[in-house]
This record gives sequence, structure tokens and C-alpha cells, in this order.
Amino acid sequence: MHQMIHITPIHLPAAPAPTEEPARQYFYIRAAREYIRQLSAQKGEPLTFHVATFGCQMNAKDSEKLTGILEEAGYQKSDSENADFVLYNTCTVRENANNKVYGRLGYLNGFQKKNPFMMIGLCGCMMQEPAVVDKIRQSYRFVNLIFGTHNIYKFAELLYTALENTFGRDGDKNGSSMTVDIWQDTDKIVEDLPVERKYTFKSGVNIMFGCNNFCSYCIVPYVRGRERSRKPGDILQEIKTLAADGVKEVMLLGQNVNSYGKNLEEPCTFAQLLRDVADIDGIERIRFMTSHPKDLSDELIAVMAQSEKICRHLHLPLQSGSTRLLKIMNRRYTKEQYLHLVEKMRAAIPDIAITTDIIVGFPGETEEDFNETMDVVCRVGFDSAFTFLYSKRTGTPAAAMENQVPEETVKARFDRLLYKVQEIAAKKAMRYEGTVQKVLIEHVNERDESLVTGRLDNNSIVHLPGNAGMIGTIADVYLKECKGFYYIGEAR
Ligand code: 5AD
Ligand code: SF4
Repeated sequence: MHQMIHITPIHLPAAPAPTEEPARQYFYIRAAREYIRQLSAQKGEPLTFHVATFGCQMNAKDSEKLTGILEEAGYQKSDSENADFVLYNTCTVRENANNKVYGRLGYLNGFQKKNPFMMIGLCGCMMQEPAVVDKIRQSYRFVNLIFGTHNIYKFAELLYTALENTFGRDGDKNGSSMTVDIWQDTDKIVEDLPVERKYTFKSGVNIMFGCNNFCSYCIVPYVRGRERSRKPGDILQEIKTLAADGVKEVMLLGQNVNSYGKNLEEPCTFAQLLRDVADIDGIERIRFMTSHPKDLSDELIAVMAQSEKICRHLHLPLQSGSTRLLKIMNRRYTKEQYLHLVEKMRAAIPDIAITTDIIVGFPGETEEDFNETMDVVCRVGFDSAFTFLYSKRTGTPAAAMENQVPEETVKARFDRLLYKVQEIAAKKAMRYEGTVQKVLIEHVNERDESLVTGRLDNNSIVHLPGNAGMIGTIADVYLKECKGFYYIGEAR
């Protein structure tokens, strides 16, 4: 398929690749750039790339890093999957995330058959599952590059290797061989690699990687590895640079931000880190994701209550309202402890928005257990909730439990829950109707160009008359009408 491409010998920088990071990756960015320049010359047009992201905020952030490197290497960004390098950054938290990827691979192969310059890459959480990689090696042989979550910092090097393995080094090694590199874990954090800045005014910032909690349904600890925190100095430096570049809102990212800092040589709590981030001039809004109820400290509540900059929004996954099930899920809190935490939070910050994640149909879930979940939903009154059908993930303890709940039962409970969640969320949203709130304007409305769209500090969406000049500003907006999940507003 790639036989007609001829690469002339490439003059890599004279020195061998450095062993230190990130210097090694910068070396491979230069090498890839030269390679891509030659491919582009043969194609007669610049090579393009497309990164598709599945899953969570963490993956979205990883995709910005991948994009940053692809741009530095000389590929041009494309909105279309009919590009010269298509990279899927995958998710595996639920089974349907995996199925989506397999479905779309066949379609990508159609493009590749017509484009001898096209490479297909797969990375992210799904690639950390050996069964997935075996299946791709066997049934999707046209894939050119596979890597996982632990060696993403080596992407430039992997990209260069894949280019050579696909198109050859000097014309005599043509013919595609798949480049596969998956690591089981890493304790390394490499700073200062290129990263795409998707928005000028807001940015996600990783504060930690991995998860040590092993909730019994969850595959994340197996595919993202053990918890490790970035040093506070590195995080603060990154945010200062972002602020100097005009960023107003940062979202601190981690699977369990409340246990930030535990593995550092000089321990630092998440609350301390938040305090230091709030001291940075130019940063006006601070968000974070995700909190685990078992680790949420009084110190954090106090910092949130004191700081004007920390958004009045807490995403606090409940998963189940049944203490019995929570124990089997290995969540390490009870229904009462969760409710008490919400009470403390609301006592300190009365109008805080609380959102959550809930799983329906965990093995052994009885009608009684489910009613406990409904009870918590009603008592807390979540501003919104992500509801999930339990999905069996091979390798997790819950997948081996015998009392899986029949599909129809799960579906019926799910519908009941969703109805209740939406009813409550719509009621909650009404409380801001008729008030003036601060809104960070994010983009021009896709459907109506006379409108702009932004977010309240509680993360709700607002549409208001405006123009592109307002993007990135924080405006006082009168919320004229609540439409359930969004507001219609007017700048004041
Ligand atoms: N099945 C369904 N939902 C799951 N989640 C994690 N693992 C599973 C699973 N096996 C949900 C949890 C988590 C969110 C990111 O995904 O609610 O908070
Ligand atoms: Fe998964 Fe639990 Fe870790 Fe969240 S805290 S990523 S649900 S194991």
C-alpha cells in the first residue's frame, strides 16, 4: 500500500539521540519534521493530521500534548479524518467506548486505501489492555502505531519510529510494519514538552496522574497506573506562564485531586496547592476534577469558601447511595458520610453547585439499594449528574462477581434515575433566573452567529447576544430565562 513512496536518506542531527528528557523528544521532533517535509514534497502538499479524543478531561489534555507535538513536527491540523495521520486517543472506562473505536477503524481503512501517505495511530487507555492490542494485531493490521498511557511523553520518538517502519528510512525498507510500544507502568513525569493551546483564555493543567483507589468496577487504576503527583513548583510555573499568556481559567486535573501530593518528597496538600494557584495574578477562575468523597478535607472546604477565584462547583462522584454497595464497590464512605459532606460543603458555601456520577446496576444491586441511590439524589438535589449503566470491565473484581443484574432491570432503574435527576436539575437551574452572574465568554454560538456562549462559575451554559470580540472576557450577564440546561442572558 505504501510501496510507491521513496524517502531519500534523512540527515538526522549529527549527534546521537540524547538520553535525557525532554531533550530526547526535541531531537525526534526535529527528525520527524525532516521526514514529514520529504513526504510532503512527494505528495505535493503539506501532510495533515487529525486527533480524535474519546473519554474524559484527562484524555482531552493528553490530546493537546499529542497535537502540540504533531504541529511541531510539521503536520498541519485538519478537521477531517481523511488526513495523513489519524490518531485515536481512546477510552476504555465502559465497553461502548471500545466498540466505537473498532467501528470507526474500518472506516479509516477506507481512507487509507486511497492515500498511500496515511498512517493510523491508536493510543490511550484502551491500548493498555493486552486483549485489545492482540485483537488489533490480528484483525486490524493496517494500523501503523500503537502506544499506551505511560509512554505518551515519548510520542515524538514513537512517531518518528512509526514513520520509518511505515515508509522506510531510505527507500529500501518500505512496507508497513506496525509499531507497538506499551508499558505496564511508569513513575516518570516529563515536563516542558510542546502542548497545543486549544483556547487562549482557559486551560486544563495536570496536577497528578493515575489512581490508587481500585474501586471494584473501575479499570482506570489498571490502565493509568499508580498515583503520582507533579511537583507544586512545576504546576505553579506552568500556570504563571499560562496567566502571562492571557489564560483566565484553569482546570486542575487528576483522577482523585483530593489525594494530591501524598507521594511527593515534600508533601503538599491539594488545599495548599489551590491556595498557591489562587495567588497567581491574572488567574480569575479555578476549577478542579475529580474529587473522591473519602479524601475531601475540611481544609479544602475552608479554602474554597475563602477564595473568590475557586469556582463554586464541586463534582463529587456518589456512584451509589447504598452503604452496602459502596462497601462492595470499595468506595470507603457510607451514605451518611456522603450526605454529611454535602451538608458541610453547603454550610460553608451556600450556593455551591454539586454534580455527581452514578452507576446503575452494579452486581448485586437490589431494589432496596437502588432506592437508597434515589434517596440520596432527592436529598442532595444535584445540579446535574452523569448517570451510567454498569459496564463489566474484564480484570476488575466486579466483573468476576456472579450476581450481575439483568439488563432489563438495569435499564428500568436507569430510566427512573435519569428522570429524577433531570427533574431536580431543571428545578435547581431556575434559582439563577433573574440574577446577574459572571460569565466567561467562550465562543460564538454555532447555530446563531449573533449570539455568544459562555459559562457561569458553576459551569452552567449561557447564550447571549454578542460578538467574537467578547471571547475570553468575563462579563456580567443578566440571566433572563432558564431553559432547563442552559440560560438566555443579556450582558449588563
Ligand atoms: N461501568 C459504568 N460506569 C463506570 N464508571 C467507571 N467505571 C465504570 C463501569 N465499569 C463511571 C464512574 C466514574 C465515571 C468516570 O465513570 O461513575 O466516576
Ligand atoms: Fe476509578 Fe475509583 Fe479511581 Fe475514580 S477513584 S478513577 S472510579 S478507581
